[in-house]
Amino acid sequence: MGIIAPNEESTYRGMHEVLKNLIPDFEIQEKAKLAYRINRLKKEKNAVILGHNYMEAALYHSVPDFTGDSLALCQQAATTDADIIVFCGVRFMAESAKILNPGKTVLLPAVKAGCSLAAAITADDVRALKKRFPGVPVVTYINSYADVKAETDVCCTSANAVKVIESLKTDTVIFLPDEFMAGNIAAELGWSTYFPQDDPEGTRQPADLGNTIISWHGSCEVHELFTPEDVASVRKQFPEVAVLAHPECKPEVVRESDFVGSTKGIIDYVDANHAPEFLLLTECAMGDNIIAGHPDKNILRLCSHRCPHMAEITLEDTLDALENTRYEITVPEDIRLRALGSIERMLEIV
Ligand code: 13P
Ligand code: SF4
Repeated sequence: MGIIAPNEESTYRGMHEVLKNLIPDFEIQEKAKLAYRINRLKKEKNAVILGHNYMEAALYHSVPDFTGDSLALCQQAATTDADIIVFCGVRFMAESAKILNPGKTVLLPAVKAGCSLAAAITADDVRALKKRFPGVPVVTYINSYADVKAETDVCCTSANAVKVIESLKTDTVIFLPDEFMAGNIAAELGWSTYFPQDDPEGTRQPADLGNTIISWHGSCEVHELFTPEDVASVRKQFPEVAVLAHPECKPEVVRESDFVGSTKGIIDYVDANHAPEFLLLTECAMGDNIIAGHPDKNILRLCSHRCPHMAEITLEDTLDALENTRYEITVPEDIRLRALGSIERMLEIV
């Protein structure tokens, strides 16, 4: 093994075992050195590392204490007793961890690591919608920033959106800001969607609405790329493929799929089911993470579809975050307190 020092050896062996068919050995050696230093610092500083399912394989399989979808990581953040939370994910996720843990240091290893959905709507937009539809509950996807959550009645994730809406016992909700997820939820509930941005004159008023999701034109720059033609062409080549879609995909794509679920839902589906091939209609790094844990399954994915924001988080940055306590997430206290209510209400429903 040459360049691996004796104290790094067990980290290297663990990583080599899961990553050997995915990553060249010289790269595993380099990454193992970083992972060893991160794991040592993590203990010294009483830090916890939360890793989203979209993290690159070498990071995902070496340093997180917990991996999962947005909901699972939010639940972990709500219960951790670590002093420092390093969030290997994107900014809105780290912000949610800070909202739940005002007394802890929350670090995001990259300065930006944004999200096209979170960037799609502002707190002013939500205030205008509430003014136009008074009394209609606001459900906001967790892929949103703290000031938007502060205007929200209850948050949801891709794992619990329908459950959260059903819990409100209402026939009209404002659901923000994912237009495709709104369409997928509406299809599941047998409701319709309405986009006030397309109707600036306000021809439809609250009284005309019913079994309606009032939504917003926002979308995920990764999931919006999948098309029904992609699914048809893969099905032509692999007639027995199981097609698994994330609910941020367009409704016409979800309609062509065999299963729709959060990133954790997709991982659990592959775990529990047999199919000659599984096609993942989601961010492509997750395919690598599944393959590493399931070398026996054939995972198909479209590898041009990588989230540039998630891809900003590397092992190098994670080490830098712990060594230099950066980049620290802060949320103004008045916004935090109002945003907290919307996350806590979701965690009560889950
Ligand atoms: P999950 O909550 O399903 O992990 O989704 C997060 C996300 O950003 C999907 O693009
Ligand atoms: Fe946002 Fe899409 Fe990236 Fe998820 S994959 S973080 S929704 S841009």
